Amino acid sequence: MHGIVRRSSSLNRARIDYLFPDTETRHRLHYGDLTDASSINRILRDVKPDEIYNLGAQSHVKVSFDVPEYTAESVGIGTLRLLEATRETGITPRFYQAGSSEMFGLVQETPQKETTPFYPRSPYAAAKVYAHWISVNYREAYGTFVCNGILFNHESPRRGEGFVTRKITRGVASIKLGLAKKLALGNLDAKRDWGFAKDYVEAMWLMLQQPTPDDYVVATGETHTVREFCELAFAEVGLDWKDHVVVDPLYFRPTEVDVLLGDATKAKTKLGWTPKTRFKDLVKLMVAADLQTMAKEAR
Ligand code: GDD
Repeated sequence: MHGIVRRSSSLNRARIDYLFPDTETRHRLHYGDLTDASSINRILRDVKPDEIYNLGAQSHVKVSFDVPEYTAESVGIGTLRLLEATRETGITPRFYQAGSSEMFGLVQETPQKETTPFYPRSPYAAAKVYAHWISVNYREAYGTFVCNGILFNHESPRRGEGFVTRKITRGVASIKLGLAKKLALGNLDAKRDWGFAKDYVEAMWLMLQQPTPDDYVVATGETHTVREFCELAFAEVGLDWKDHVVVDPLYFRPTEVDVLLGDATKAKTKLGWTPKTRFKDLVKLMVAADLQTMAKEAR
C-alpha cells in the first residue's frame, strides 16, 4: 500500500502512522498534492498502483465557504488530475472515487439513492458533483474502471476533530475529566445518516472487486439529529447534555443540508454489503475512545 501526503510545517500524520510504522514501509508515503499534476503523474508512474482510492479533499463543508477555490481545486479538478494521470501514464488501475451524500444537499426525495438528483448546497458539494460526473465521463469515454461511492457520513475515533461527531465525543470526554465545562455547537436540528467508517471502507473495497464499475450509495438507512448524538454521548458518561451544550452561531453554515437519509439497497444487493454498526454503538465506541485518549493526555 502506498499513500500521498502533503508537506506541512508540522507533522500531522498521527492518524495514518500505524500503516507506515518503520523505514521499510515509510518509503511508500509520497509527497504530492491533488493541486499539483506533476506530482500526481510522477507518483503514478513510479508506483503503478492496481487500485486507487481517491479520498483526498478539502473535506470540511463549512470551511469550503471560506476557501471555495481551493476546495474546487482539490476536490473537483484534483479528481480530474488523478483520472487524467492514469491516461497519461498508460496505467489501468481500478479507481474508487469518494463521492458524498452532501451532493444530495437540498434533498429532492427521501431516502436518497443512486438515481436521486443532486442539489449541492456548498462549494464542497458542488465540487463533489463535478468529481462524480467527470468520473462517469471517464468511464464512458475511455473505459476507465471507476466507481463512485456516494457515502453518507462515516465516523470513527479517527474522525477529524472539526467534524461534529468527534467534536462532541471529545467535548464529552474533556467535560467528564474536568478539563472543560461547555461545548459550543452550531445547528442541533441537522439530521445525518451516520455510520461507522470501518464498515464503509469494506464497501469501497467491494466496489473495486466487481467485474464492472458502477456507482453505489452507502448508508445505514437511519437518520438522527445532532441533538440526539449529544444526548446519547453525554448519557454514556452519566451527564445531561443540556447542562453543557451551548449554541454558537459561529458554527452555522450559509446554506445548510437539513436532513440526509440513504437507501443502500443497491450496495446490499450487488455487493452483499450491510452496515454492522448501529448508531448507538457508534456513539458508544467513539466516546470510549476519546475518554481513553484524553485521560492519557491529561496524565
Ligand atoms: N462541523 C460541525 N461543527 N458541524 C456542526 C456543528 C459544529 O460545531 N454543530 C452542528 N453541526 C452540524 C452541521 O451544521 C451539519 O449539519 C452536521 O452537524 C454535520 O456536520 P459535519 O460533521 O461537519 O459533517 P458534514 O455532514 O457537513 O460533512 C461530512 O460528511 C460528508 C458525507 O455526507 C464530511 O465528512 C464531508 O466531507 C462528507 O462528504
